[in-house]
Amino acid sequence: MHLIHSVAELRTALNGQRETAFVPTMGNLHSGHISLIELARGKGRPVVASIFVNPLQFGAGEDFSRYPRTLDADCARLRAAGCDIVFAPDAREMYPEPQTYSMQPPLADQLCGAYRPGHFQGVATVVLKLFNLVQPRYAAFGKKDYQQLFILKGLVRQFNLPIEMLEGETGRAEDGLALSSRNGYLSPEERAEAPRLYRVLRAAAQRIESGETDFTTIEQAAAEELTRNGWRVDYVSARGQATLLPPQANETDLVVLAAAHLGRTRLIDNIECRLG
Ligand code: PAF
Repeated sequence: MHLIHSVAELRTALNGQRETAFVPTMGNLHSGHISLIELARGKGRPVVASIFVNPLQFGAGEDFSRYPRTLDADCARLRAAGCDIVFAPDAREMYPEPQTYSMQPPLADQLCGAYRPGHFQGVATVVLKLFNLVQPRYAAFGKKDYQQLFILKGLVRQFNLPIEMLEGETGRAEDGLALSSRNGYLSPEERAEAPRLYRVLRAAAQRIESGETDFTTIEQAAAEELTRNGWRVDYVSARGQATLLPPQANETDLVVLAAAHLGRTRLIDNIECRLG
């Protein structure tokens, strides 16, 4: 496995190869990331992973400086998982000029974007740059970051990028908590409480699957249960899978998404469901 830090070395290592499968990450890898590497490997092409904690997608007061940076452990996991190339640039390599172009994706101010202004602009910008650098045939992203995946699929479609997006199911701990690098911030008490987010979403999804269409009531019940148990809720929202907008009449393929803070940690999760 090659560990590469510069754009020039990456170009040399790829040597014009445009049939790779790419897994962009911010590092601190867990088994959810490794399942994306496996998804990528399933395409039978060389696998490239990137590790870059992208400053553009963090707002003021967010966790950019304390985000865990664990390059050695990440490389050991990637090597064991069969990754071929790891691209781990620093911020100067990715953003050499003081003023940076920025993408303005649709839906960037909805859901998480309403609470993290600039976040999806930063995600779309860095992913477009990474796509331009790696020029992969496939790219794998997890469904835990549902809105991110939705926005990036739009990026690929609207800019006619010749990339097939691979969607990884959300990895979960045995108690249902979605795997996330941010779970490491949780105290033991918070970790015990954290799976409530998934339980609350499941209960909301079950109500929808049994035919309830008063989404506001369902969302409020979920948010209230979280608040009663010490969470600070950003949103719980039922949306259409096809648009990520509030469900239209006759729309049946839905997703319930939530973001809420437990202490200093912001957790997100979602469940797809079908209106019964
Ligand atoms: O999901 C992530 O880890 C990041 O948002 C991504 C896609 C690697 C862009 O920095």
